[in-house]
Amino acid sequence: MTDATPLSTATATGHKMSARGVNVFYGDKQAIRDVSIDVDMDHVTAFIGPSGCGKSTFLRTLNRMNDTIASARVTGDIMLDGEDIYSSAMDVVQLRARVGMVFQKPNPFPKSIYENVAYGPRIHGLAASKVALDGIVEGSLRRAGLWDEVKDRLSDSGTALSGGQQQRLCIARAIAVDPEVILMDEPCSALDPIATAKIEELIHELRGRYAIVIVTHNMQQAARVSQKTAFFHLGQLVEYGDTDNIFTAPKQERTKDYITGRYG
Ligand SMILES: Nc1ncnc2c1ncn2[C@@H]1O[C@H](COP(=O)(O)OP(=O)(O)O)[C@@H](O)[C@H]1O
Ligand SMILES: [Mg+2]
Repeated sequence: MTDATPLSTATATGHKMSARGVNVFYGDKQAIRDVSIDVDMDHVTAFIGPSGCGKSTFLRTLNRMNDTIASARVTGDIMLDGEDIYSSAMDVVQLRARVGMVFQKPNPFPKSIYENVAYGPRIHGLAASKVALDGIVEGSLRRAGLWDEVKDRLSDSGTALSGGQQQRLCIARAIAVDPEVILMDEPCSALDPIATAKIEELIHELRGRYAIVIVTHNMQQAARVSQKTAFFHLGQLVEYGDTDNIFTAPKQERTKDYITGRYG
């Protein structure tokens, strides 16, 4: 960012990302209605709500992943450090490095463990030498809590790992390009409880370095890993606040009904 960048509300208020009045349409159908929210560094923000309420759709607006869906149209403002990420000046490849994404189903490339992590730094020119690249790969795998399990088999295929290891490899891949925000869309829903616990522990450790947004349909998970929780219903953001408050003293009737299991 240059000194000439105008100071926006998002920068002025210190939020890492800010969405204002965001709508998302798939063709004629509106999936997200007038959502405004801020996402902060050093915080895990959980998006909860019943299936089909728009959690994934809204998450994807934060790094323009909806661009890849032909029928999707996004209106409103989304700022990253005060920059409009939908402006024509925004380099989308760069944006997706700054705002990385981890998907529901682990999706390592059909390449070696090393290459899965090295690929991003290489295309973004982050390593000046092989030694530097090796360092980024090791550091990313360490931060993803996977190094000790894979250090002796870096040339094995990423797809040969267990589901939980694959998901940690995908987190290492996201970390490798030095992101600022990490988006996770139900990252544990394909994993067993032990692998899930490892990912939750990892999210806890990563929190200090990134802004993390996690979609989860598991309310216990939201309560365990997040400091802020956003409850979505029918495409609207019904309530957003400190996780403790959302789960113990929700202000909205619809939030209360959801967290007490009245619908889901
Ligand atoms: N690619 C798509 N094309 C058309 N409609 C979609 C698409 N993805 C999601 N939707 C619709 O948008 C709404 C929100 O979906 P989604 O964001 O996936 O919800 P959630 O992640 O909360 O389950 C749903 O009605 C869903 O059917
Ligand atoms: Mg979803």
